[in-house]
Amino acid sequence: TILILDFGSQYSHLITRRCRELNVYAELMPCTQKIKDLNFKPKGVILSGSPYSVYDKDAPHVDPEVFELGVPVLGICYGLQEMAWNMKGKVAKCEHREYGFAQVQISKIGGESKGADALFEGLGDELQVWMSHGDQLSELPPDFHVIGRTSTAPYAAIAHNTKPFYGIQFHPEVTHSKRGKEVISRFVVSICGCRQHWTMEEFIGKEIARIREICGPKGRVIGAVSGGVDSSVAAKLMHEAIGDRFHAIMVDNGVLRLNEAKQVHEMLNKDLGVNLTVVDASDLFLSRLEGIEDPEQKRKIIGNTFIHVFEAEAAKIEAAAAEEEARGGEAKGKIEWLLQGTLYPDVIESISFKGPSATIKTHHNVGGLLKDMKLKLIEPLRELFKDEVRALGRLLSIPDHLVQRHPFPGPGLAIRILGPVTRDQVKILQQADNIYIEEIRKAGLYNQISQAFAVLLPVKAVGVMGDARTYEQVIALRAVQSEDFMTADWFVFPAEVLRRISSRITNEVAGINRVTYDISSKPPATVEWL
Ligand code: XMP
Repeated sequence: TILILDFGSQYSHLITRRCRELNVYAELMPCTQKIKDLNFKPKGVILSGSPYSVYDKDAPHVDPEVFELGVPVLGICYGLQEMAWNMKGKVAKCEHREYGFAQVQISKIGGESKGADALFEGLGDELQVWMSHGDQLSELPPDFHVIGRTSTAPYAAIAHNTKPFYGIQFHPEVTHSKRGKEVISRFVVSICGCRQHWTMEEFIGKEIARIREICGPKGRVIGAVSGGVDSSVAAKLMHEAIGDRFHAIMVDNGVLRLNEAKQVHEMLNKDLGVNLTVVDASDLFLSRLEGIEDPEQKRKIIGNTFIHVFEAEAAKIEAAAAEEEARGGEAKGKIEWLLQGTLYPDVIESISFKGPSATIKTHHNVGGLLKDMKLKLIEPLRELFKDEVRALGRLLSIPDHLVQRHPFPGPGLAIRILGPVTRDQVKILQQADNIYIEEIRKAGLYNQISQAFAVLLPVKAVGVMGDARTYEQVIALRAVQSEDFMTADWFVFPAEVLRRISSRITNEVAGINRVTYDISSKPPATVEWL
């Protein structure tokens, strides 16, 4: 394992990713982590970048024990300055903040660098790198030497004369640094000696063993599934680990996509064998949503009703088990655990040394709403990034169309029906959305789009059908490409695909006579309309 200490740089998680891409397991921890409290011995440590300056009053600092561990340490950007600061070097403000590409001249191995370092071995004389910093080293710490410089940074890369300590001013973890991944590989593989055997197969084996150990021979787990990738993969993994002692609940809130509850039931329960109950609570949800237009209120009602239904269902499952036991059946024991499909980016956000971030989007995770249930949490995906969850899903035989599925918000179609939510409005939107997605799939575009959906507008427009004038509603189509949904760009469709979609929707969906395509990026718009 490589320990990555996070000083708050926006790139910290990328260092973790790069290590894992090299099949080396890496764990990101806050920079305030005490070395004596680690429950593993890392083979190497990487200190991340940071928005701070080492001389700031509230600057985060590393436990100096990290330099006594006897393992290699690599400081990146702030990490370099932090290392130098610990070793009595000097850091100064740059005249101009340096941001963008730079060329690092690598010192001749065996020359100035005395052959003690191996960080850049085999990488040539020059590296194209990405810089983003306001401070830089102005004086080498004792016993360090330069292994790379740029036209503005004489100490762009340094190494200790005798110990395996390295510092680089640039960011090898971002893809703009051309051979950045090789630099990371030099450090974690060649210098730290990590074996490259962290694979998803290994993860599955270890995680199943961990779940079994946590739950013990009798422990029971309950969890919500939504039809999305994360909850489905987490559910299948739980099933592999503890079989029917895991019970999944899917709540049909009446604002799901067309036939969604049925499809999820077939796939998770019939095909994959997961113990699943689908609760049709659509009447309850729709009656509570009656007349509500405000999006935040829609969200609140759906969130609260969800908790209510989920808890009631959990109680039923518990009661059924008790009844069976009373009739002389096997004692099943209490449900003690709640499954959550938390992913690594959420974990990273919440372990930040600045404390849990205020921006964490708990509403994006149905499980997040259930934390008052007094169940202990089990989070088998908490170490994984989204694409790793997809890879895991494939290994667990979850079909590709589910693994690649676009995200779908918890409040579902309720936030895509801009006016009041009624059964009729839901039906119209379900049909239009279904045609839209069907045509996107047929055109082979689904996987190029990050998220696509239809929105039902609360306005009526005039149209003509046969000889008659119509006065019906409008559908807006949305399709975006995005890395992380913080920003997004609208997708450029071939005209004939849009033409087909529009013609099918206006012909097949009663109540719609007009289709528009949303060409707004985020910002200033958001992905959803509400
Ligand atoms: P926005 O509209 O904020 O959407 O640009 C960004 C991403 O978040 C999803 N989203 C939600 N997901 N509950 C959810 O589970 C919500 O209330 C919610 N609102 C937005 C949206 O679908 C997109 O992927």
